[in-house]
Amino acid sequence: MKKIMTTTGGNPIADNQNSLTAGDRGPVLLQDYQLIQKLAHQNRERIPERVVHAKGSGAFGELEITEDISKYTKAKALQKGEKTKLLLRFSTVAGERGAADAERDVRGFALKFYTKEGNWDLVGNNTPVFFVRDAYKFPDFIHTQKRDPQTNLRSNTAMWDFWSLSPESLHQVTILMSDRGLPKSFRNINGYGSHTYSLINDKNERFWVKFHFKTLQGIETITNKEAESIVGKDRESNQRDLFENIEKGNFPKWSFEIQIMSEEQSKSCSFNPFDLTKVWPHSDYPMIKVGTMTLNENPKNYFAQVEQASFSPSNIVPGISYSPDKMLQARIFSYPDAQRYRVGTHYEMLPVNRPIVEVNTYNLDGSMNFQVKEPTKAFYEPNSFDGPVEDSSFTEPALTVGDVADRYNHRIGNDDFSQPRALFLLMSENQKEQLFSNIKDAMDGVPRNIVDRQIALFEQVHPDYAAGVKKALGI
Ligand code: NDP
Ligand code: HEM
Repeated sequence: MKKIMTTTGGNPIADNQNSLTAGDRGPVLLQDYQLIQKLAHQNRERIPERVVHAKGSGAFGELEITEDISKYTKAKALQKGEKTKLLLRFSTVAGERGAADAERDVRGFALKFYTKEGNWDLVGNNTPVFFVRDAYKFPDFIHTQKRDPQTNLRSNTAMWDFWSLSPESLHQVTILMSDRGLPKSFRNINGYGSHTYSLINDKNERFWVKFHFKTLQGIETITNKEAESIVGKDRESNQRDLFENIEKGNFPKWSFEIQIMSEEQSKSCSFNPFDLTKVWPHSDYPMIKVGTMTLNENPKNYFAQVEQASFSPSNIVPGISYSPDKMLQARIFSYPDAQRYRVGTHYEMLPVNRPIVEVNTYNLDGSMNFQVKEPTKAFYEPNSFDGPVEDSSFTEPALTVGDVADRYNHRIGNDDFSQPRALFLLMSENQKEQLFSNIKDAMDGVPRNIVDRQIALFEQVHPDYAAGVKKALGI
């Protein structure tokens, strides 16, 4: 027998087709609460979209650790043989919630691992570096990616104006304009933690680490032209590809690898290892295999499990921690702040965000608190009623950081050209041609003085880079 439809108060509904009206042709009565509730709820069906990375797709899966890295970390989720459930949300950065998938943009690669020691979130991208290295620049950079306040149009001029005035962006701009800036599908991208993080072992020794997820489907990309025809037919090409492949049992996989730098090595490293615009060269810091990640389950409800998913670099577990990267510190503040506004005060209690372990905080009340705890006298800390207490065994090793507080100019003493040059030089002739042509397309309508300023930066990366762009632009 079919279940009986009810109001949100659980009362049976007799008629879900006809409004309660005064006479056959008459107006609606205010007492038709079901109708009012239905319309009022619809008005609240949307939450604010993410201020960046608004368009995304997600799936659940598993991280399996196949190698022993216990000399670097005591994190339970990273011990050999361990399997941990996870949620991975892919996204584009600039587009709104309804934007097309096949757009040239960085792809977000946000992971939430539901570990036995609480949630570990690794909120990365499909690129190992970023456009800026100081959080002061992040809101400005994002303004250049979003819409012009007057025209309400995306602005190539704003993008290249900002980039040409920010040489630290060259590395990421080169990746974005390369073939990899327009992936064929989410299954065909790598994921990078991007920032330097730390691992801490059971002797309380710290190692700096970079996290990599290398696609086992292989990197595959599409051209601007191919994207145009895809978007003309299907704005959800990447969402469709991910959902349908998982539905078919064709589960995408990534090889989970790390690079390690000792604290000693970091002191003599020729570049700042905490600078988000730099990679660690593989020849100096070789890749170490750790395990495999598989996506094997589609969400049952997109809104509840993907739209409301709240990832934050602040979520770390014992054995994995932060680094002095100043961008990372800003992100540790920014994400939970965004989520309290976007999802609500108790976003962490929602099923998709809730850790699998017991949560023992002294937070009380707040809007929409739906947790009913056993009555306790221990609702403050310290207390004499056996409430949860801190445990000093989780203390991290002390870290020596700079001693003079000042505003250090991050544009001084930072080589913004060598690493983009290394990337440019490893590109095939065909990849270089794609790079030049993609830059030409992206510079459409940009004033000549801004174009020239950007070409002068390409010149410092490599004369062939500047020459190739000039030729593509016909100047
Ligand atoms: P390697 O030759 O050891 O590594 C080159 C890396 O570049 C590979 O990981 C490769 O990925 C990746 N790559 C190839 N084409 C592109 C592209 N168009 N966009 C982005 N990445 C690409 O050299 P190094 O480690 O010395 O690094 C040289 C340069 O490679 C760096 O300056 C950086 O720009 C880029 N790179 C380096 C990474 C690192 O962690 N060291 C990570 C990613 C890029 P794949 O193996 O999938 O082909
Ligand atoms: C999303 C801020 C840099 C990757 C977001 C959100 C904010 C934000 C506020 C929306 C969060 C939400 O509503 O749930 C910032 C700030 C940065 C920064 C202030 C720099 C100071 C970066 C970097 C990366 C990154 C360097 C990658 C290495 C992402 C991803 C998402 C995201 C993947 C989407 C997460 C999801 O799928 O829900 N960022 N960000 N961001 N950011 Fe950043």
